[in-house]
Amino acid sequence: MLQVIQGGERSVSQNVLASSAAVAVQAGRRRTFAVISHPDAGKSTMTEALALHARVIGQAGAVHGKGDRRGTVSDWMAMEQQRGISVTSAALQFSYRDAVINLLDTPGHADFSEDTYRVLTAVDSAVMLLDAAKGLEPQTLKLFEVCRQRSIPVLTFINKWDRPGHDALALLDEIEQRIGLKPTPLTWPVGIAGNFHGVIDRRTGVFTRMQRSPGGADLAYEEEIDAEEAAEMYGAEWDTAIEELDLLAMTGADHDQDTFLAATSTPVLFGAAVANLGVRQLLDLLVELAPPPSARPTVAGPDQPVDGAFSGFVFKVQANMNRAHRDQVAFMRICSGRFERGMVVTHAGTGRPFTTKYAQQIFGQGRDTIDEAFPGDVVGLVNATALGIGDTLYTTVPVQYPALPSFPPEHFAVVRTSDTSAFKRFRRGIEQLDAEGVVQVLRSDQRGEQAPVLAAVGPMQFEVATYRLDAEFGVRVQLDHLPYEVAARTDADGREILRTESNIEVMTRVRDDALLALFPNRWRMKSVAGRHADLRLDV
Ligand code: G4P
Repeated sequence: MLQVIQGGERSVSQNVLASSAAVAVQAGRRRTFAVISHPDAGKSTMTEALALHARVIGQAGAVHGKGDRRGTVSDWMAMEQQRGISVTSAALQFSYRDAVINLLDTPGHADFSEDTYRVLTAVDSAVMLLDAAKGLEPQTLKLFEVCRQRSIPVLTFINKWDRPGHDALALLDEIEQRIGLKPTPLTWPVGIAGNFHGVIDRRTGVFTRMQRSPGGADLAYEEEIDAEEAAEMYGAEWDTAIEELDLLAMTGADHDQDTFLAATSTPVLFGAAVANLGVRQLLDLLVELAPPPSARPTVAGPDQPVDGAFSGFVFKVQANMNRAHRDQVAFMRICSGRFERGMVVTHAGTGRPFTTKYAQQIFGQGRDTIDEAFPGDVVGLVNATALGIGDTLYTTVPVQYPALPSFPPEHFAVVRTSDTSAFKRFRRGIEQLDAEGVVQVLRSDQRGEQAPVLAAVGPMQFEVATYRLDAEFGVRVQLDHLPYEVAARTDADGREILRTESNIEVMTRVRDDALLALFPNRWRMKSVAGRHADLRLDV
């Protein structure tokens, strides 16, 4: 209904309209993504380089404290520093051109972890780094697969072009053959890997000559050079690049925004993160091509539009990030509306109100208070002990986002402490790790309360759990690995049936009371299933 406006005052409905339009504008500026890669492909280096370009950090080297590099913003756990890996994730926000970039950090260890997967539920796109000398590695394949399953658009950056590696066309072939994604290069290198002179922008034909700054810690030196001059400067190398471009044009490897957004093609760029070569081009393409936040599916009802009332979901919970305060932080991705620090939101699971007094932007040790945030942003809610992974928060209009999908665990171990005086702390620690999703905790009636079973997607999760029980709860534990590789959900009848089988255990997952049947391998599971027609087994 229209209302008469007097004296320049605006009606409530106009204010709502104005604020939802403002939210839509802010959401449209957001680019929320994660850099993903096989370990050592250069993820930490790329994070630094991106931040350097946005001038968040004066010189590269301040994000991850690897080796003897300066400072550390992202790696906060002592374990990460000792081992030079990133086990946890957080978000880094910076402005670039007109956009607000939210870079979500993912764990950098070799086995695929549930944590990485959860971070990928909170992004709108991903940047996949390939090491030019290694091509596709096991983790790369798995990550591409996850992005495909979730329809996450992926930009591919072929890194380390400053040193010898595979042929550019061969790398494209590998992506197409082994992943089934159509590679559509947007930049093309002049000079083979190890002899990198710059890139040709395939859409404009402009050649940008690139040189690393001394030491590589500053922005690269870039200069646009016209084709004639470049041909003279680089001779055969230039001719090769032009021939390859002709070949690409003939095979139709051109960028297509629809297939990119549908996650069936991937724009490809070449560069060297360590020397900041090609990093500006990547940022520009993220702003131009990567999708902003969009309407999100809900459990019941229509998708939630970004300019609706405030809503978000928790994709990560992390305790003890700040040793001095021993706090617990819930990381929430905002899906719709405007977030304002101090606003009272509703916890969809319990219907209880929750005050967001302590809202922060957290990246490693760096913390800034957030006063307002928009769709695509990540807010760290401090001391949010009532919040768990996957929880939805909203104001005014109830909404519920689907539970975060979980991976079936493949590694199992009984955890015990021989220090009986530490049992209370042991139990608290296990509960905490379960709440954070560091590991899944299973209860076995046969094994008893003193010997819970930890289940993980990747064995690295066990290392993190053991380390944290010691460092944060003062409990030293032993792990006895169990000879199971497959878990399938079953029901009470299934448990009875499986009692008659040897070398199979049924346990309860504490998180959701699901009954899981553990099998030594897939073959055994199939043979058992074949013998019992009524047995329910869901993998
Ligand atoms: P990650 O987070 O994916 O595990 O990889 P990270 O950035 O730590 O990079 C792994 C190694 O690769 C590092 O060398 C890093 O310097 C190097 N690197 C990253 N990008 C490039 C690049 O574009 N070109 C070249 N030549 N090397 C690159 P390191 O010796 O393990 O560590 P550091 O002593 O250099 O820190």
